[in-house]
Amino acid sequence: MADKLIIFDTTLRDGEQSPGASMTREEKLRLARQLEKLRVDVIEAGFAASSNGDFEAVRSIADAIKDCTVCSLARANDRDIARAAEALRGAKSMRIHTFMATSALHMEKKLRMTPEQVHEQIRLAVRYARKFTDNVEFSPEDASRSDLDFLCRVLESAIAEGATTINIPDTVGYGVPELFGEQVRRVRERIPNSDKAVWSVHCHNDLGMAVANSLAAVKIGGARQVECTVNGLGERAGNTSLEEIVMAVKTRRDYYGLEVGVDTTQIVPASKLVSSITGFPVQPNKAVVGANAFAHASGIHQDGVLKQRDTYEIMRAEDVGWTTNKIVLGKLSGRNAFKQRLEELGIELESEQEVNDAFRRFKDLADRKAEIFDEDIHALVSDQAVHHEPDEHYRLVSMAQASGTDARPHARVVITVDGSEHSTEADGNGPVDATFKAIEAQADSGAELMLYSVNAITTGTESQGEVTVRLSRSGRIVNGVGADPDIVVASAKAYLSALNKLHSRAERVNPQGGV
Ligand code: KIV
Ligand code: ZN
Repeated sequence: MADKLIIFDTTLRDGEQSPGASMTREEKLRLARQLEKLRVDVIEAGFAASSNGDFEAVRSIADAIKDCTVCSLARANDRDIARAAEALRGAKSMRIHTFMATSALHMEKKLRMTPEQVHEQIRLAVRYARKFTDNVEFSPEDASRSDLDFLCRVLESAIAEGATTINIPDTVGYGVPELFGEQVRRVRERIPNSDKAVWSVHCHNDLGMAVANSLAAVKIGGARQVECTVNGLGERAGNTSLEEIVMAVKTRRDYYGLEVGVDTTQIVPASKLVSSITGFPVQPNKAVVGANAFAHASGIHQDGVLKQRDTYEIMRAEDVGWTTNKIVLGKLSGRNAFKQRLEELGIELESEQEVNDAFRRFKDLADRKAEIFDEDIHALVSDQAVHHEPDEHYRLVSMAQASGTDARPHARVVITVDGSEHSTEADGNGPVDATFKAIEAQADSGAELMLYSVNAITTGTESQGEVTVRLSRSGRIVNGVGADPDIVVASAKAYLSALNKLHSRAERVNPQGGV
């Protein structure tokens, strides 16, 4: 029987630290349900002590998820650890993940603590976490730049205090595969009690080597857990990409000799959900989940694949969840068929009222678009969650715009601001620009537009457009997403969604910000 590689998903925690990727409790719960269908082993649901919102998100996920271990991050102090334990109380299987920096640079400049103080605090933190659960993970932050002797002393103590998983983070993406793999091997070999813990790695992608570093730690270092995120989402250049790790280990089982429990047919649905919730599009040439990952443009390749598939394909598209866009529903589909499709897609709406709202929106969409695909249903539900919150500050009522070769584009937008209706008009360079200017004529947000991108949800010109708008104000960055068959309407929805996020006061503590 082959060893198992534990897949620890941190899309909801480290992934969420990407600028603008923050998610609502409802979005996190929906994504956690998809991760459960994907059958990852551990879901890091958030950082409970960072904000009340994150606490509630971790709690809801802990209460709802039955088939994965649910984990919360906690800095190495009693308050964070107690808060994580409280949020995780309802979990069928829980883990507390506590961490503290161990590199000289971080200890001196960020923590302003001596190595002895750090060592002692780590001991106390792991001991305290063990009072709540026997599943405790410890991470020495910035491990790849930490002194090896000190790292070994600290990790030996963490295991002696009861840490059951030791995670080696390459926090700043500094590692290179052979050295990083070797570092994990040496640490494991030098620590006398290393066999009492599962060894894990957590790599960032600053030099584009997160997946290679993680796999080297598995092969050379003997790591048996990899921390990763769907689409490689994460701070700066992102984290290790889950789909690449899983498919590398599965496709090259001859080399790695390891089992993974993931249901790979759920990879593409998970990727699409992450992208539509966070507004981070997937690049077309991204391995496994990019739109071109299985597209053969060259005639020689097409010919080869038609003759025998494995001439140019090492994985099968359907094994990772690519399906040809299937028409699933149309204008004449009834409420029962719609509800059943929601269930088949794993979308659980919280009340009959929400199902009714979604069905009404589906009927509106079906009036404007003949064929409704699964992707449309996902977008519709995301859109409903984002644009129909009871406390939504800005809401689109109606809009119209005119553009052409002979006239300056002009837009008229009617929005409600805190319940009262306003109509504004503006000219712009194009219809989208005019629409944003008309919205700003009322909102006067002072925000800077950092990114505007449009994606077709399915194929063809009948597809809905999915628009992402990234806004920044006073150092805060948010993403808004909107979908509609009319891309100017989708753009207005995305802009208003970003403005609503800026308007919400929820603030978070950054885990890397010290203890
Ligand atoms: O990158 C990092 O060091 C982390 C730790 C909190 C595990 O995210
Ligand atoms: Zn990280």
